[in-house]
Amino acid sequence: MMNKPADVLAFILQTDSGCGLIFRKKALLDWVEKTKNKLGKHELSFAVKAFPWSEGLQVFASRLDAVDVSNLTEAKLVMPYLKPEAEIWLTNGQVIDAQSIQDICEKRKIIWNVGSERDWQEAKKLNVHVALRISSSSLLKKDDPAFVASRFGFDRKNISNYSKADRDKVYALHCHHGGEKSTDETFKTLLSELLKLREEFPHLKKINLGGGWAKMSDPLISELAAMMPSDLIFVMEPGRAVTQEAGYAFSRVLSVEKRGERWFVEGELSPGAHLRWVRSHQWTLIPLAEGERVELNGEVWWGSSTCWEDDVLHLSKNGFSAGVGDVILWGHVAGYALSWNHSFNGIPQAKVFLV
Ligand SMILES: Cc1ncc(COP(=O)(O)O)c(C=O)c1O
Repeated sequence: MMNKPADVLAFILQTDSGCGLIFRKKALLDWVEKTKNKLGKHELSFAVKAFPWSEGLQVFASRLDAVDVSNLTEAKLVMPYLKPEAEIWLTNGQVIDAQSIQDICEKRKIIWNVGSERDWQEAKKLNVHVALRISSSSLLKKDDPAFVASRFGFDRKNISNYSKADRDKVYALHCHHGGEKSTDETFKTLLSELLKLREEFPHLKKINLGGGWAKMSDPLISELAAMMPSDLIFVMEPGRAVTQEAGYAFSRVLSVEKRGERWFVEGELSPGAHLRWVRSHQWTLIPLAEGERVELNGEVWWGSSTCWEDDVLHLSKNGFSAGVGDVILWGHVAGYALSWNHSFNGIPQAKVFLV
């Protein structure tokens, strides 16, 4: 059964909005506090692209040790809330005007994620620290269930160029495993493989294990901490793990009708436009319809009126009843939904709320 927090229900009962995304402050903050406590001296960064929203970032950004930003907009959004010593990890440095990022970040430490020869040449010209980005496919075995052929970073076999010339510039090693299947074992393997490379970089201070923490177990952070030599810090850089327990999406039901063999339940929220990268499909129906509610047996399609044929959340559930005015509520809506929130084909953009 999907969890329906009282504050989310109370908000839906009093709002006029036909659809929206809701993030719970308490859940955001609890996740960050709990994780910070487990990390101890190790560090929590956050990938701003995963929740590019000033009001939302304000809830927890002051507790972060660092952020990962990929453009100037993200940097401007988060900067007012960061503690003075928080570090800025820069992804996509080659597309950002270096002077502008340095102006926005003022005196903060900037760590440029270098994952290509071009990045390296650019980074050398600037007064920044360097994190060498190593591709996860060169650290995981091909038969590892989490393996994906990663586009990001150097193959571990090709880092000797960087470990010979200018190696003193390398402040950190960074591996973001972009797949969806990371488990505890993935992080342990990535960390132990990265630790094998540290000999080559005498001034190494940090190992950044990137994102993908959505399914981590409770003891994982202490297990990783126990693997660390005392003079190195590990950094986790989650995106969706921070927001997924806090995020909900809702839409009022505008019509319920049978066309041919199938039932169609239409609302204002489009899975394609507003809920991309929301994978869990945890949902529930809040029975608020004042008029008739219809028993929907067999195949039921939920969606909105966009023209994209696949823009449906397929529900097939016997004994499911719905009526105009009911509210459908999704859980596990990670903050990436904000990045994709648009008004494709005339449907309204979802409003975003904090409760
Ligand atoms: C460099 C980097 N770090 C962290 C993240 C966050 O990933 P996730 O949402 O899987 O935790 C991303 C997301 O793409 C990323 O590119």
